[in-house]
Amino acid sequence: MAASAEKKRFVCMGIESTAHTFGVGIVGSDGKILADARDMFRPGPGKGMVPRDLSEHHTMIAPSIIATALNGAGLEMDDVDVIAFSQGPGLPPCLNVGAALARYISIVHNIPLVGVNHPVAHIEIGKLTAGPTDPVILYLSGGNTQIIAYAEGRYRIFGETLDVAVGNAFDVVARMLGLRSPGGPEIERLAKGGSYIEAPYVVKGMDMSFSGFVTDAKRKVTEGVTPADICFSMQETCFAMLTEVTERALAHTNKTEALLVGGVAANKRMQEMLRTMCEERGARMEVVDSKYSGDCGAMIAWAGALAYKSGQKTSLRNSVILPKWRTDEIEVTWLR
Ligand code: ATP
Ligand code: FE2
Repeated sequence: MAASAEKKRFVCMGIESTAHTFGVGIVGSDGKILADARDMFRPGPGKGMVPRDLSEHHTMIAPSIIATALNGAGLEMDDVDVIAFSQGPGLPPCLNVGAALARYISIVHNIPLVGVNHPVAHIEIGKLTAGPTDPVILYLSGGNTQIIAYAEGRYRIFGETLDVAVGNAFDVVARMLGLRSPGGPEIERLAKGGSYIEAPYVVKGMDMSFSGFVTDAKRKVTEGVTPADICFSMQETCFAMLTEVTERALAHTNKTEALLVGGVAANKRMQEMLRTMCEERGARMEVVDSKYSGDCGAMIAWAGALAYKSGQKTSLRNSVILPKWRTDEIEVTWLR
């Protein structure tokens, strides 16, 4: 019997722990977000993320985040029908915290376990909150930069970064400038007073490179270029590259919607550039609800609910973490 026939309405809890954030979300099978609780580890100014510190943070905070989510939804653990977790990609020590917890909940409460791909969860929460049907997806975060579109059962990657992710480039440049973490919002704030200085613009076919910009920014900092000018130029250059590739993806696929998801989707200038391009070609531009653009449990819960509805479950044997799991390896059974 298909899982969808086993139980028509259900509640799914999702655990996110791929990197900096530990989150727990609860959604109904109808797409209603009942709760979303999370806590992000913030390293001190100028410091990077150390995986061991992150996993310790997640382990310590997990019980109170689960309690906050259940309270927020007005539910008990026994009301939860399905437990989903981010299985990858991500940092192994962090992924293991969420996976172990989800396995434990699945065994103790005797409920099905669903391993979720983190990028696919960013896409699905974007679709749920912004409402597009068949978009070209621009997924921008600290670990990923991908231009994606659905075709024949999978989310296919049309273009991506050849080196660092755009969010990571923002975080590294912010750290150089002594700004606090996460760097993206700080760059956006400082960019408001800046003006444009030429910077490396690297697009190769449908792929992009951001590491040249970071190296160039390092040199400019030593030469005394103002932080505002560096931040402004970073936004203009990187976002123009991303907009160019997205436009080409729209043209190749004949799709008429662009959806912006991932942590960097919160950036107003990125949204503006994409909107202008879409308007010029008569396409619709959608952005994930900013409450759910960054890593959160709600996105894992919703992607888990979609997978479960279409008959997917993850056995304990197959619940091992997948630190390098790619977006295009997932069978998108719920869109078939
Ligand atoms: P993934 O595994 O999806 O790569 P992640 O660990 O990067 O996840 P997200 O929460 O999806 O986590 O994205 C975080 C990134 O988003 C960080 O690099 C952060 O600097 C960036 N970011 C957040 N807000 C903004 C903003 N307003 N402008 C630019 N970048 C931003
Ligand atoms: Fe993410």
